[in-house]
Amino acid sequence: MAQSHPCPPKNSWKSKMNQAKLHRLVSDQFKEKDSNALFDLRLTTNLSLIQHLFFSLYAEEEHSEAFKKLLNQLPKLFATRPDALKKQDVQRLKDGNWYQSEKIMGMQLYVEHFNKDLKGLQQKITYLKELGINFVHMMPITTRPKGESDGGYAVNSYHEVDKKYGTKEDLLELTSEFRKQGIFLMLDFVVNHTSNEFSWAKKAMKGDKKYQGYYYTFEDDTIPKEYEKTLPEVFPETSPGNFTHIPEMNKWVMTVFNTYQWDLNYNNPEVFMEMLANLVKLVNMGVDVVRFDALAFLWKKIGTISQNLPEAHNLIALFRMCLQVVAPGVVLLAEAIVAPTDIIKYFGEDQKEGNECEIAYNASLMALLWNSIATKKTQLLYKSWAHVPPKPKDCTWINYIRCHDDIGLGYENNLLYELGLNPEMHRKFLLDYYCQRLDWSPATGQVFMYNPKTGDGRITGSAASLLGLEKGLAQNDPEMIEGSIAKIIMLHGITFAFGGIPLIYAGDEIGTLNDYSYLKDKSKKNDSRWLNRPMQDWDMIAKLDDEKRPQAKIFHALQKLIRIRKENPVFADCNDVQLYHTGNDHILVFERSNSKKEGLLVICNFDENPQVIETSWVKKLGYFAQGDPKDLVSNKKIEINSGLLEVLPYQMFWLQRA
Ligand code: GLC
Repeated sequence: MAQSHPCPPKNSWKSKMNQAKLHRLVSDQFKEKDSNALFDLRLTTNLSLIQHLFFSLYAEEEHSEAFKKLLNQLPKLFATRPDALKKQDVQRLKDGNWYQSEKIMGMQLYVEHFNKDLKGLQQKITYLKELGINFVHMMPITTRPKGESDGGYAVNSYHEVDKKYGTKEDLLELTSEFRKQGIFLMLDFVVNHTSNEFSWAKKAMKGDKKYQGYYYTFEDDTIPKEYEKTLPEVFPETSPGNFTHIPEMNKWVMTVFNTYQWDLNYNNPEVFMEMLANLVKLVNMGVDVVRFDALAFLWKKIGTISQNLPEAHNLIALFRMCLQVVAPGVVLLAEAIVAPTDIIKYFGEDQKEGNECEIAYNASLMALLWNSIATKKTQLLYKSWAHVPPKPKDCTWINYIRCHDDIGLGYENNLLYELGLNPEMHRKFLLDYYCQRLDWSPATGQVFMYNPKTGDGRITGSAASLLGLEKGLAQNDPEMIEGSIAKIIMLHGITFAFGGIPLIYAGDEIGTLNDYSYLKDKSKKNDSRWLNRPMQDWDMIAKLDDEKRPQAKIFHALQKLIRIRKENPVFADCNDVQLYHTGNDHILVFERSNSKKEGLLVICNFDENPQVIETSWVKKLGYFAQGDPKDLVSNKKIEINSGLLEVLPYQMFWLQRA
């Protein structure tokens, strides 16, 4: 079990005690051991919050019976939690925030692309361990429509394992093995929508009014047209608009993502309660972290973009507060790929501070890193990060460079203007740079979902291909190959050091290139995100001893960085990231320092030429106090004779203050 490095008190973060901490305090006070009594204590502790959140969404006059039903439901749900997990919950509460530990290292993978199925994945635990992985995000494994299913994000069920992955028993065996081996498991909870084949949708289509009320259904398109006035489009190329006419019931239904993904109507408290039961069933299979998919979209309102609405936050906190009573060892991840100032709100604000999601994707850092690679400059990263408010102390990031989705260019326009850039032209430059419209660019990505109405587009492609490895290999260009390897290592290294859970996208640890095979598959060819959903290359992995291969260089470098991270508590997330300006626009410097004594200074060069930085301020920070500082990456002392530090192209230093 990964123990978190204890963080000293800080003034720079938000320091309100969240409910989880309160639970620990209360159970210590009462020295309660019995799990039912502990459940009662948790319910009592959370009750007024649950009540407040529930009635903020569902008017008390109309829904007091529904509230009683919810209170009745909670003990029943708790009774379904397996004993082993109840024990683990209590232990987790005692241990504290494991997810902020320096010992955690994650990987995201498609089970069927990794090693066929759940059993196959279990056989590869040794590989995960060899690299240092102890946190796994498995992409959706539940039943879904045949053909197009948005990679399983159109769910036919929330807990039935799709045959192609194996059986429920295989899943239980895997989760129990993960527990034994200290590997945390994250699974998706597709909370915003079901597929059109989900049992509720099928009943709705047959005319069942109750289930039509589980979705946003409309007699005609009058109200949909009102919504459309302000709703953006998520998949404008393949699924324009946000509503679909369903001939079977002669009604319109809201389908914000694909036409076969029906948005759930949380105005109906029954939907919330049924989904809570589905959530508990899912976590009872041994899930440690629940990825709340597309949670920004949970509440809809005419006249708004229906994202990030206050009601969505209350709903998420309500899920959180109820789940905490039933399964307090489970934490939530916010999948909110929205503006930086909006992402942070999913940790909870005001009364909800620290009580919504414990973890959120650091999509802002991810997008800014890609901007820095293309521009070779870091000013936008500095400017944008300065605008991100501090997060609550019990919350953390998932830091990553690539995932199964596209890269959105959601930079803040005012900051681009401040840098003298025209936002529209800058986004066009980034699309051109990454999507093969500039001869000199090493990237071989593709445009995803270009919207001619708005001129917006996103980028897809594997990390290695976007960073030049594909082109370098094709052109047999050693300089381009070495450059891409250095970039892959540096970007990952930043995510390992930034504070939070680093998440490697399976295949990136060996520089996997774009996979063009999706073009031959009818159900995939219209969704270019499949370009970056490759098969794990076990033949290549068998050859990693050959140190000359680019893949081996990447693998061994990342493996080493992971080992260094795990050995040094300074990497634990204590909300202590501090960016430093150096006066050189190609350089990124940040410090991690959870105490006066321990410190880590990360210095990176985003330029293709060597750069220098002046170092007197590094001395002032105490990095030369006991002689020259040590660079953990090269395991060497660095010498600065002239007062200038040279940073080679795409080099990363991890300087240690001991
Ligand atoms: C999330 C997933 C994405 C999916 C969408 C709809 O954003 O990451 O792959 O298409 O939700 O479920």
